[in-house]
Amino acid sequence: MIDADLRNLSSDRVGPATGLELEPEIAALAPLLDADAQAIRDRRDDEAAMLGWIDLPHDPAGVVEEIDAYAAEAKGRFDDLVLLGIGGSALGASAVVSALQHPARALQGTEGEGLRLHVVDNVDADVVHGLLTTLDPRRTLVNVVSKSGTTAETMAAFLAFDAWLRDALGDDARDHVVATTDPAQGILRPLVDREGIRAFSVPPSVGGRFSVLSPVGLLPIALAGIDLTALLAGAARANDAAARPFAESAPKQGALAQLLTSRRGATINVLMPYSTRLRRVSDWYVQLWAESLGKRVDRRGARVHAGTTPLPAVGTTDQHSQVQLFNEGPPDKVVCFVRVGAPDHDVTIPEPPGGLEKLGYLGGRRFHELMNAEQAATAHALAAHGRPSYTLRMPRIDPEHVGELLQGLMWQTALVGERWGIDAYDQPGVELGKVYTYALMGREGFDEERRELEEAGVEA
Ligand code: PA5
Repeated sequence: MIDADLRNLSSDRVGPATGLELEPEIAALAPLLDADAQAIRDRRDDEAAMLGWIDLPHDPAGVVEEIDAYAAEAKGRFDDLVLLGIGGSALGASAVVSALQHPARALQGTEGEGLRLHVVDNVDADVVHGLLTTLDPRRTLVNVVSKSGTTAETMAAFLAFDAWLRDALGDDARDHVVATTDPAQGILRPLVDREGIRAFSVPPSVGGRFSVLSPVGLLPIALAGIDLTALLAGAARANDAAARPFAESAPKQGALAQLLTSRRGATINVLMPYSTRLRRVSDWYVQLWAESLGKRVDRRGARVHAGTTPLPAVGTTDQHSQVQLFNEGPPDKVVCFVRVGAPDHDVTIPEPPGGLEKLGYLGGRRFHELMNAEQAATAHALAAHGRPSYTLRMPRIDPEHVGELLQGLMWQTALVGERWGIDAYDQPGVELGKVYTYALMGREGFDEERRELEEAGVEA
């Protein structure tokens, strides 16, 4: 089970200016977080509340068996999986596969477990060209993922990969495409129905950034050879933790850490796993936090400009980069470390040969020992500089604990949104940019915006 260590938030460790008086502050806020968690759960049968993510670990639509069967069949037919999606339609799969597939899967050729994943989550012509000129269409499966089924970036990539498959394979191309989209809405759904393309549905009550445990994430994760049942069992454990009293609940403790430090001027929150395998979890978290909690108005319509800025980091790498800023720059950050109990395979550092006696302190020690020593040292150094942090302790990087970590971070985000009184499930602030893009690209129905852009001298 993942637990949270809050000691490096306390004024005893970080000093009175930025530290918390943990006991009284917990006593005041914990009952409110208990009530917030209950209020969130109570709303989850209302489809419009977009709380379908809470039930996904229990596989309410019974899709896991179907996805596993599809993945088992795909295993012999394909070597490479190209995921076309953006935002919540790509980041979850990317995070889980990076954490759980063999770290050198790309070098293993066709012998390794699961398809090699290539994520196209941008309209970068060189990346698209690189894949189209390197992959073998006969051995490639394309998963187009778009809940709305209209997203320009994903649709452009789909048109490119679909044409590539059809040019190479003719009518067989349709067996190389699998779509994940809304059961009824959007442009993709009628297309897949008409062409007889295999499709999985995104539950309407699940938003993009909360969709990693829906077919949006589960399908590519299964195709990468990862155990869905264990992933979901771990996520269910986070649901249990969110229902437990504050003292036993890592999601509530994380929410408290964020709420209280933000009141003390921490406008930036850093997620810093000490693990390369968890690096992409930080990218996933950035979207989850930023799009959910960065809001102009609260639920009653009052202007609040809520939000703190999530910043991805990775230990130990960022100790030689951002940690300088964290220690000595503006005191505007709280760091959430993720500390891993044990690696799958530890490596012993060899005794140094003659002439390198100064490296003797490393010889015979294990890599993971060094990793965890660096995490503890960095947390302590931050405290010594008056900078608060807390640590999520994750026993291993396996499907269960990754599921628990992701669902726990979703709860943390939802709880902060609830306390701030905002809608954590919409994203009105990204719409205007989309509209101007349509206008610049000549899409029908956007003449007024096109004129506005012309007058302002904005060109594509
Ligand atoms: O969290 C969200 O809802 C967004 O980030 C979406 O995931 C993103 O915009 C992609 O949308 P779609 O899946 O409709 O293509």
